[in-house]
Amino acid sequence: MTARWPLPTIAFGGDYNPEQWDRSVWREDVALMQRAGVTLVTVGVFAWSRIEPEPDRFELDWLREVLDLLHDGGIAVDLATPTASPPPWLGAMHPETLPVTADGVRLTWGSRNQFSPSSPIYRARALAVTRAVAQAFADHPAVVMWHVGNELGQVDHSDVAAHAFRDWLTQRYGGVEALNRSWATDVWSQGYRSLAEVQPPRAAPYHRNPAQALDFRRFTSDELRSLYREQRAVIREHDARRPVTTNLMGFFALADYATWADDLDVVADDAYPDPADPRALTDAALTQDLMRSLRGGQPWLLMESATSGVGWRAHDLTKSPARSRLESLQAVAHGADAVCFFQWRQARSGPERFHSAMLPTAGPDTAVHAGVRRLGADLARLAPVVGTRSSAQVALLWDWPSWWAARGEAMPTDRLDPLETLRAWHRPLWDARVAVDVVGPPADLGGYRAVLAPALHLIDDIVAAHLRAYVAAGGTLVLGPFTGVVDPSTHLHRGRTPALLGDVLGAGVQEHVPLPDGGVTARWRDSALGTEEVRVHDFTGHADALDPLTEVLLALGPADDLPGLEHLAGSAVVTRRRQETGGTTGAGTAWLVTGVLPDVDLAAVLHRALADAGVEPFLPGAPAGVEVTRRGDALFVLNHTAAEVHLEIAQLALALDLDPATATLTDLLTARRFTTTDTPVALAPQGVLVPMETR
Ligand code: GLA
Repeated sequence: MTARWPLPTIAFGGDYNPEQWDRSVWREDVALMQRAGVTLVTVGVFAWSRIEPEPDRFELDWLREVLDLLHDGGIAVDLATPTASPPPWLGAMHPETLPVTADGVRLTWGSRNQFSPSSPIYRARALAVTRAVAQAFADHPAVVMWHVGNELGQVDHSDVAAHAFRDWLTQRYGGVEALNRSWATDVWSQGYRSLAEVQPPRAAPYHRNPAQALDFRRFTSDELRSLYREQRAVIREHDARRPVTTNLMGFFALADYATWADDLDVVADDAYPDPADPRALTDAALTQDLMRSLRGGQPWLLMESATSGVGWRAHDLTKSPARSRLESLQAVAHGADAVCFFQWRQARSGPERFHSAMLPTAGPDTAVHAGVRRLGADLARLAPVVGTRSSAQVALLWDWPSWWAARGEAMPTDRLDPLETLRAWHRPLWDARVAVDVVGPPADLGGYRAVLAPALHLIDDIVAAHLRAYVAAGGTLVLGPFTGVVDPSTHLHRGRTPALLGDVLGAGVQEHVPLPDGGVTARWRDSALGTEEVRVHDFTGHADALDPLTEVLLALGPADDLPGLEHLAGSAVVTRRRQETGGTTGAGTAWLVTGVLPDVDLAAVLHRALADAGVEPFLPGAPAGVEVTRRGDALFVLNHTAAEVHLEIAQLALALDLDPATATLTDLLTARRFTTTDTPVALAPQGVLVPMETR
């Protein structure tokens, strides 16, 4: 029987690299996978030199044998195109397929990923091996989906890349005049006579052109996406129906995944939260929300994660099976329909021999493997949530070109990283158990009670019009520091920042102000938000209210507390403009936060903005550190604290829109039943509860 995607349960498994093991191990693997409840493995990711040991000589029998064995064992396969790691022969025969860094260093084989995404020879070879694999296995009953390459993320500054960059620029600008205008090449005598003179942003004596740098980022993302698309097209010649994807890397800086999403049949992500980082799991929730949002809420796949250590951190903390379980179930809570690991069997050789796996070198009789078996059983019980979706009342806006533009050279400060700002704004929402989507600024915002744009550095007229329309329709918009500063060519918008939204905000920034270490003082003007002095740190705007409807809620000063910066006294750090009806800018509320606030003060502002907007959190009375999400008719409650917590069953029922007086709930993980008259449910540290109405 041919296995079908989606699988009927949350898919469970990992990367499987049988080419690193001999045949006898394959059978043992399948048997152990069955015992662990594995349902899906990704095969062939790094097998190019085994599949095509010499140019045009393909060896696929071993792979067929593996797929047959897996299929006989009831394990489905996510079959990879092995294009992430070309064999040495490709670089040896064609050095121009090897990527070059901005400093002019050509990277070589002996590791992996040594290819230029722009190399026509690499591409032709990658398509040939993709064709061989697709042709051979498109009808194999084990195959349920296709996995193109691996973590597409290469960047190249070689002559081959320069050529492709010029083609890309020709598409974008038509000719050199438009390029000269967009790149403002009159600055520093950079005027080009023709596109043939244009280079990637290579090592240069001083700061490089920011518009060139931004276009190169866009180009690199598009190049990587086109690699994916070419390989997918070859797969599609042989298989019209199985989903095709590639594994993303969360908030990955080299690829604008918002532009990739339409090309993926299902979003897949690799995630390695750092056990040493106390904020890792809050940030993981944000990444998971991004993954769920990329394709409009469609369930996604956790394609890779680690059962314990990863081997690539300088000091690689391991994790407990309980923590690994919590992380895995958190992904499901945020919309994942698969939990997979790198990798099934721990490597004995190579750079990843100290990376954890589902089956450690020490064997199945280990704590890690016992945890894997337990997780397999847990996931099997979550079948009722497969395919279900979530809804959110709040959108966080995220935009890769804004990120790129804000992280360029020669900025007012290097302490403003849009991703860190996004994370800082997300944390108070996570703490308050507010569900969020993470969407691009052109998304349809109509359904959200509040839209937060923590770090939208780059805004064009279209996005501004979109945000203005959202507020005019009654929405609540909250903008963060250094927002709306540049246009898509990195030119500063004229006027106070964010100029394109000045009317909606009734406020604007006249100067960007990096702050001395230790920050500066600000005082609340609205005591409901706080009464203590606030230390604004790293960066603020010198901002004013420009409209009688605008209230300044937090302002710098007094002057005596701003030595050397007395002129900033009274500068607005938080403003709010509420327009009921009748005005030209409509009925909503627009907040501007111009400075970087301590967490507690940022939380006060955001919680107020959300409360005013009528946003309803889950389990309002639950202790801090209890995460709650809802998928379809199931609730996920995750205890991230080190203590047992107690949950009111009526509160759980309310979060599921059930009558708290009469509801009966069943925890999918334990089959335990609760009625609202029972005493509160105890949830152990790192414990997870998945209540659903008893059916
Ligand atoms: C990435 C890769 C895998 C493996 C893991 C190790 O996610 O895709 O091949 O190297 O990292 O953590």
